[in-house]
Amino acid sequence: MKCLLLFGLISSLIAGLPVHAGAGDSGSPATDIPTKNPFPVDAKTAKEGKKLWRKGGCYSCHGGNAEGGVGPSLQDDVWVYKPTDTMLFKTIAKGRAGTVMVGWEKDLSSDEIWKIISYIRSIYTGDPSKIIW
Ligand code: HEC
Repeated sequence: MKCLLLFGLISSLIAGLPVHAGAGDSGSPATDIPTKNPFPVDAKTAKEGKKLWRKGGCYSCHGGNAEGGVGPSLQDDVWVYKPTDTMLFKTIAKGRAGTVMVGWEKDLSSDEIWKIISYIRSIYTGDPSKIIW
């Protein structure tokens, strides 16, 4: 129980949102942010994620294959912040203040965001030793 409370506290600190005592509100919009992607990085999920990547308009800044453009490449091992699952989720859901990277939590459900993250993980071309997810 203590553990659960601590987790709630930490995730609420990360999310900047009030603690939701009960689990099970995993639907959209994104509220508590899990520390790990609940979806696998397999071909099926990556394909779904890529569709959402196009649907969400991410390609317009990051490129059709996330190779980079106005927004940075999401294939390589150069990241603005440490590329944990939580960081990616938070960036996609909430955006980056002061940049053109806006939050997408009104357009994408948490599941959709996680699938996009699976897609991003699937196209990684960086140094394998730098994988922390
Ligand atoms: C209007 C242009 C634009 C669009 C559209 C856009 N992004 Fe971004 N994105 C950016 C920019 C610019 C940054 C770098 C922000 C910074 O410097 O912190 C960024 C950063 C990111 C990062 C963090 C990269 C890092 O190195 O830390 C991720 C992940 C990301 N975007 C994913 C997405 C996804 C997924 C979508 C679609 C749902 C999307 N972006 C749509 C411009 C965009």
